[in-house]
Amino acid sequence: MCGIVAYVGPKDAAPILLEGLQRLEYRGYDSAGIVVANKGLKLRKVKGRVADLAAAVPARFKGGLGIGHTRWATHGVPSDVNAHPHLDGEERIAVVHNGIIENADDLRHRLEADGAVFASETDTEVLAHLIARAVKETDTLEEAVRKALKSVVGTYGIAVIDAERPDQVVVARNGSPIVIGLGEKEMFAASDVAALVRYTRQVVHLEDGELAVLKADGFHTFTMDARVTSKEPLTVDWDAGHYDTGGYEHYLLKEISEQPETVARTLRGRIDDRFHVAHLGGLNLTPHETRAFRRVKIIGCGSAYYSGQIGAQLIEELSRVPADAEPASEFRYRNPVVEHDTLYVAISQSGETYDTLAAVQELKRKGGRVLGIVNTVGSAIARECDGGIYLHAGPEVSVASTKAFTSTAVAFALLALHFGRVHDLSPADGRRICEGLRRLPDQIEQILKQDEHIAALARKYATNPSMMFVGRVRGYPVAREGAQKLKEISYVHAEAYPASELKHGPLALIGPEMPTVAIVPDDELLDKNLTTLGEIRARGGQVLMVGHRTPDAKLAEDAIVVPKNEIELDPILLTIPLQLLAYHAAVALGRDVDKPRNLAKSVTVE
Ligand code: G6P
Repeated sequence: MCGIVAYVGPKDAAPILLEGLQRLEYRGYDSAGIVVANKGLKLRKVKGRVADLAAAVPARFKGGLGIGHTRWATHGVPSDVNAHPHLDGEERIAVVHNGIIENADDLRHRLEADGAVFASETDTEVLAHLIARAVKETDTLEEAVRKALKSVVGTYGIAVIDAERPDQVVVARNGSPIVIGLGEKEMFAASDVAALVRYTRQVVHLEDGELAVLKADGFHTFTMDARVTSKEPLTVDWDAGHYDTGGYEHYLLKEISEQPETVARTLRGRIDDRFHVAHLGGLNLTPHETRAFRRVKIIGCGSAYYSGQIGAQLIEELSRVPADAEPASEFRYRNPVVEHDTLYVAISQSGETYDTLAAVQELKRKGGRVLGIVNTVGSAIARECDGGIYLHAGPEVSVASTKAFTSTAVAFALLALHFGRVHDLSPADGRRICEGLRRLPDQIEQILKQDEHIAALARKYATNPSMMFVGRVRGYPVAREGAQKLKEISYVHAEAYPASELKHGPLALIGPEMPTVAIVPDDELLDKNLTTLGEIRARGGQVLMVGHRTPDAKLAEDAIVVPKNEIELDPILLTIPLQLLAYHAAVALGRDVDKPRNLAKSVTVE
């Protein structure tokens, strides 16, 4: 949420900052700005997209030190003045910031009483004024930043420059990511490696409470009380090519289409045919410890939470260990009971979602054992957990999650297999699941071939103001994710209900204007689901059935038939057509598919 980029080195900063911001735009896109130091600070910022900013930056915008930002508004509406960077009144200090300063109002009143004049409504401008005051009383910029941050309550990832020290940038992190990119006689920083991979693959992640000074020839890191810290650079696997649309019209379609390969990558090297078990080296759990857990609690936000519901179902079915999923954002605030014999699993594509991170920290503080199912290697949640499973799905750029969702569900299938086989899942069932997992990539490929059929259905159904999604037991999280995809990218209202609950309220909504997407796998609940379809049709509702067989025309007027796998794994495949349905509905309605209104990819604020 919001993107930061910083550069210091021999080249002109502006083009590097603009390119970096373009890569980060998926984190926030209501306004953008850059500032470059060259005999004073040169600032350009605009409401709108990074392309609008690029058009506003003159060709001669010289200077080898600069910082930039793309914003997702929290304090103050999207506007030119509220866009970052923010400067102090004397235009000496410039700051870009992700996060929320909770005591901003209080600090602002104090600064105003002391003569500061504010240009914007943002919490960030407070930082610029605070640092500008501190810099006059200290010997270094880093000291001034430390001093200013001591009076701040809240979360931040910041980059700061000082017009009078045009050879350095100071960055700091508390709850909002900052990554340093190490170049040859040049240094970069960003809120996300996406902005760095074009220039370097050597990165260093700041921890909460850490700061760094970057100069062209090196960097050093230290804590808020000035203790020097030592950092080992990490090599990033992803390169700039992973962040291109690869010839697709949208990142979302690219990411949906990549799923045969991304699912294969999540599985690679993780199926052991000797004992029909999962090989998950990063769990850091002995079989003895695994057996000792009496419960599994899964947390995540948005689509991550829905994939966690699929995960809970898989764990219960394959291992008979009770499991459930809960939104991390709710969990962290309800003073959760943390049990020593519960295994906690945190899910996050980005590894930076603030609510999930905070929930993990709360769990760790209470002594809970936490595994992470995370896509971004080295991210905050991955580092905070005791072990886990990396998805290896490659960077997901489109705001709506697709390939990370399926890879998470696959990772859960592996975890459930692991749990099952240390409990009572038979070798034969273990083998059945292993074989089912291996079939997934080809079966996803077959579903993707139905793109045109699904696009035609999307055009038909997208004209309705509202849609109902229903599923039963294994199908219910699929319905929830289907409704989520549709509403977030097409803005068509969508509700998901357990099919079994329809009669207890939502059936009142059903009529010709409210079609239903029904998830109807061939499992032991098939007949019950078909009865539900009959009830919907009897009320004049249209039904689009997503399942394993062509329905009787009396029960559903449209259908998407997907290949059958093992019943436990079917939810993974049933999700894919719903992604395409939402995608094509959004395209048909002319929506900004990859950057839906009001949303951001990485929600690094509460
Ligand atoms: C945001 C995104 C969702 C995503 C959720 C969790 O709300 O728009 O697509 O599912 O965050 O993100 P995470 O990176 O933690 O999986």
